[in-house]
Amino acid sequence: MPAPARNPDAPFGEAHGAALTGAFAPVFGEEVLENLSVEGEIPADLNGVYLRNGPNPRFAPNGRYHPFDGDGMLHAAHFDRGKLVYRNRWIRTDAWQAEDRQGSSPYWGIMNSLKVRTDLPMKDTGNTDVIVHAGKAVASWYLAGEPWLLDPVTLETLGKAPWTRPPGGGFSAHPKVDARTGELMFFDYGTEHPFMWYGVVSAAGELVHHVPIELPGARLPHDMAITEHYSILHDLPVYADPEAERAGRHKIRFDASLPARFGVIPRHGSPAELRWFAFSPCFVYHVVNAWEEGEEIVMIACRYLPARNAQGGIDEQRTAHMIATLMMDARLWRYRMNLRTGATHEECLDEAHNVEFPTINAARWGQRSQHAWLVDHDPDRLRWTGLRAYDTDTGSCTGAWSDGHAHCWYSEPGFGPARAPRAEDHGYVTCFVWNAATRSQQLQVFDARELSRGPVARIHLPHRIPAGFHACWFNTENTA
Ligand SMILES: [Fe+2]
Repeated sequence: MPAPARNPDAPFGEAHGAALTGAFAPVFGEEVLENLSVEGEIPADLNGVYLRNGPNPRFAPNGRYHPFDGDGMLHAAHFDRGKLVYRNRWIRTDAWQAEDRQGSSPYWGIMNSLKVRTDLPMKDTGNTDVIVHAGKAVASWYLAGEPWLLDPVTLETLGKAPWTRPPGGGFSAHPKVDARTGELMFFDYGTEHPFMWYGVVSAAGELVHHVPIELPGARLPHDMAITEHYSILHDLPVYADPEAERAGRHKIRFDASLPARFGVIPRHGSPAELRWFAFSPCFVYHVVNAWEEGEEIVMIACRYLPARNAQGGIDEQRTAHMIATLMMDARLWRYRMNLRTGATHEECLDEAHNVEFPTINAARWGQRSQHAWLVDHDPDRLRWTGLRAYDTDTGSCTGAWSDGHAHCWYSEPGFGPARAPRAEDHGYVTCFVWNAATRSQQLQVFDARELSRGPVARIHLPHRIPAGFHACWFNTENTA
């Protein structure tokens, strides 16, 4: 007798909650789709691949599920002279391969286990971030797992990148690539002293620098930044609750008595050369960009607004709960750090909008940039309701679009430069959009300078693409 068809909105049933049902429900096919129906016109001068990573568990989870637990799956939109091919494939991590052999999952999620436990092994899913380095896609995991290399067009898993080094032995999500030198900068973090490591991979793919970074204790940083000569590492007052750790569980604490600190280290510098700059306590999931201005380092980021209690003070428990459940209440923020005087300055660029998951023209990472594209965030859950463009010099919103804030699920956008770009923002913004009201899935393409005009092309996909995490752009114009 054939197995009953799975409910596509809840393939593992309803027991695992919102993170595995509806827009987050995984898909099980790996497809190559061409000749899709298009409204408008796919720009002929947009050539490259929009890559998006995200959780897509293949087997029913054990215990409590968190989106960081789902097997990483890449969804790719390959634009080539006005034509579009969509592909999706799981990342063949060690865990994926073990599950493939077993036909079920022996792993436990981050809420049930710890990275160091062997009795409840935690799955390193590679599901969080994707960037491109030396012509290959690099997928990485939030909790500093192993970096996986994939073909950015076919999505074939090519293997593990040999860039990790004990004692930390990990590679966090959000490495950064300097387009001018081809170098990749990354960090690793863990629960053992010195709690963080920093590394540089050459354009040829060799680990050329790896140094310990001492933090005051175990922390849960999420991102980093680069400038032309420096890397910026994060020491934020967010860490795993020690009591929960002793009980073998993962629970986050936000400690408002500690500052947020950013450590500036020369790109190939020693730990002794690192300088810390202290700011108001907060959490930062994502950096927009950073660069040098004379003797100052400038960093633009999405700063979490700590939750407030009835008396106006910081509500640590509520803030920790929001961080743990990816409920974001973030504002665009500018940090300045003076390398000569040690002076610091921070300011909110736009109080009006809760924006996150930033994208810029990746050729500008580490250099002064002016334009960023972000998602509007639903403050009550992990859902992105539209797109928003900013001039980060002035903090002014220069464009916005949504097919419906109440029922649409946008993904982190990609920025694809036009062929022979004439300016930083000369190009296109691409995005997957699930409309839950009409139950329709589109890939949308915008003129990056005219977001408010709506998509120049809407490509109709035959089924939903699960909500996910990070995205990037692989530029075939420069690599063909
Ligand atoms: Fe992230």
